[in-house]
Amino acid sequence: MLRTNTCGELTAASIDTSVTLCGWVNTRRDHGGLIFIDLRDRYGLTQIVFHPETNADAFAVAETLRPEWVIQVEGKVARRLEGTENKKMPTGEIEIVASKLTVLNKAKTPPFEIDNEKPVNEELRLEYRYLDMRRERMQKNIMLRSKVFQIIRQYFTAQDCLEIDTPCLIKGTPEGAREYLVPSRVYPGNFFVLPQSPQQLKQLCMVGGLDKYFQIARCFRDEDLRGDRQPEFLQLDFEMSFGDQGDVQKIIQGSIEEIIRQCSDKPLKNGKVEKLTWKHVMDTYGSDKPDLRYDLPITDVSEISKSCGFEVFEKALAANGTVRALRVPGGAELSRKEIDTWTELVKELKAKGLAYILFKPEGPSSPLLKFFKPGFLEQLQEAAGAQAGDALFFGADKYKIVCAALSRVRSEAAKRFNLIDTSVHALFWVTDFPMFEENEDGTLTFSHHPFTSPNVEQWKNRKEKPLDVHAVCYDLVLDGYELGSGSIRIHNPELQQEVFDMLGFSKEDQQKRFGHMLKAFEYGAPPHGGFAYGIDRVVMILAGEPNIREVTPFPKDQKAKDLMLGAPSMMPNKQVEELGIKIVEA
Ligand code: AMO
Ligand code: AMP
Repeated sequence: MLRTNTCGELTAASIDTSVTLCGWVNTRRDHGGLIFIDLRDRYGLTQIVFHPETNADAFAVAETLRPEWVIQVEGKVARRLEGTENKKMPTGEIEIVASKLTVLNKAKTPPFEIDNEKPVNEELRLEYRYLDMRRERMQKNIMLRSKVFQIIRQYFTAQDCLEIDTPCLIKGTPEGAREYLVPSRVYPGNFFVLPQSPQQLKQLCMVGGLDKYFQIARCFRDEDLRGDRQPEFLQLDFEMSFGDQGDVQKIIQGSIEEIIRQCSDKPLKNGKVEKLTWKHVMDTYGSDKPDLRYDLPITDVSEISKSCGFEVFEKALAANGTVRALRVPGGAELSRKEIDTWTELVKELKAKGLAYILFKPEGPSSPLLKFFKPGFLEQLQEAAGAQAGDALFFGADKYKIVCAALSRVRSEAAKRFNLIDTSVHALFWVTDFPMFEENEDGTLTFSHHPFTSPNVEQWKNRKEKPLDVHAVCYDLVLDGYELGSGSIRIHNPELQQEVFDMLGFSKEDQQKRFGHMLKAFEYGAPPHGGFAYGIDRVVMILAGEPNIREVTPFPKDQKAKDLMLGAPSMMPNKQVEELGIKIVEA
């Protein structure tokens, strides 16, 4: 090793010992004939002092040092002069009196400062990610990520799971996003698909008798990016045989609780993890992943709104829709401008507007009041529990649109009025999702993925009421983010075929896309189920970061580009032609 110690470990216990440190020049300060360097590595900072009279050569080199140069320093550990100690730093009691200085490498002036956390343009940070990584924020996040990997490996190994790796060049697994294709050179015109998840392979491991599996799996999805999405990301992927929903949940929940226990100083809200049904969270919070660190429930006011006088409400109900209200405590102080902003937000979610009533000290205020039949205002106020100082916001439309709109208002209101209890984590299960969702054209699609088992009792009514059938599937939600999803799988080939039929896959398509699964199920597939959670999301939440790029060592930007590598990029014609591909100019 070129060093005897790291820059984070020397304390008063080492005074008078001779050491050699390596690292980056964090800062240089010239003080009355002395030069001080803060030397930095992953482990911390150590102060180095150069005296011109004790070592003129080292001093002369020290005078030339610039930030981010890489140096090796030999010297003796000494106690800092009284009054110059830094209690905040682990190495703050000592300094190294340098006797030899070697410059290992020079550095250009970095495009942004490394030694402070001043905001830097994100594009610049991503282009120079290797410099960004030297900064404290990224170092902390990457260390946390590594710790989460270790906890996961230890935990699932202790649960008797085998860590099994699955390939990235596969025949796709549908998880609802567009797939990344990889052209085959050997079979021109043919493609591998990068896995959206190892879903089918882990199920095939169960058919293979491996009983319990886990993997930290890289997944690829070509979808619109948001703060909590990357085109490639990591899942903790888990599957078990001969277990039911409760068994899978117990193991998964245990792992998340362990990660939170070891990586966060915040407890779980009320010290527990609730199981809530999909219907309950949708009705109450308008979302299948509500942030339950605050309450703010929605009230169904359809019943009392049927002949209320306000056309918007009456029409929505007549069209089989719903009318719901969200009470915002303190909301009466909202300005017209703020309400207009929220109205624009819900319009992006297909809502036609955002009706409201402000309960001001001088009395209720709203453009709607003139339409209301006598007594309706009081009925609404009572139903939603609105008091002086509150606001009520309304959604009147199809169930899905009302839920989306009021859920958005709910989270805006929580931010605006500081209602989020950031001293806790809210972790809970959502169960009993519908098996199918309706496409705009009336055909059915899966809500989880097409291998999810239906609720056996409700399956009997699938012909008449397919949308009423629940799936044996469950999500885990943390602080308003969907951490993961899982299900008990179909293990019976006939049932699997029938589900494919209902999803509108032709027999030919079923064979083409999933023939291998149907075939495998004919050879004694055990009952099985599993789960996957997004590791990047877990780390993002625990690190308190606003998006997963901050916890991903080498992320793509919001337009799915790697700004550091300059990928994706054009390839030489010859290489493209070898793949049997012709690029057509747009
Ligand atoms: P699902 O599609 O819900 O389930 O994905 C599981 C979890 O993976 C994370 N995730 C993402 N993270 C970052 N960027 C993305 N683009 C992204 N997409 C998903 C989320 C999500 O909850 N095969 C099933 C699991 C199973 O049934 O066992 C699956 O992949 O945290
Ligand atoms: P309008 O009659 O379109 O001027 O709307 C009157 C008020 O009701 C406005 O505040 C609108 O934002 C609101 N509004 C209109 N349609 C809806 C709807 N479907 N749901 C909730 N509020 C609505």
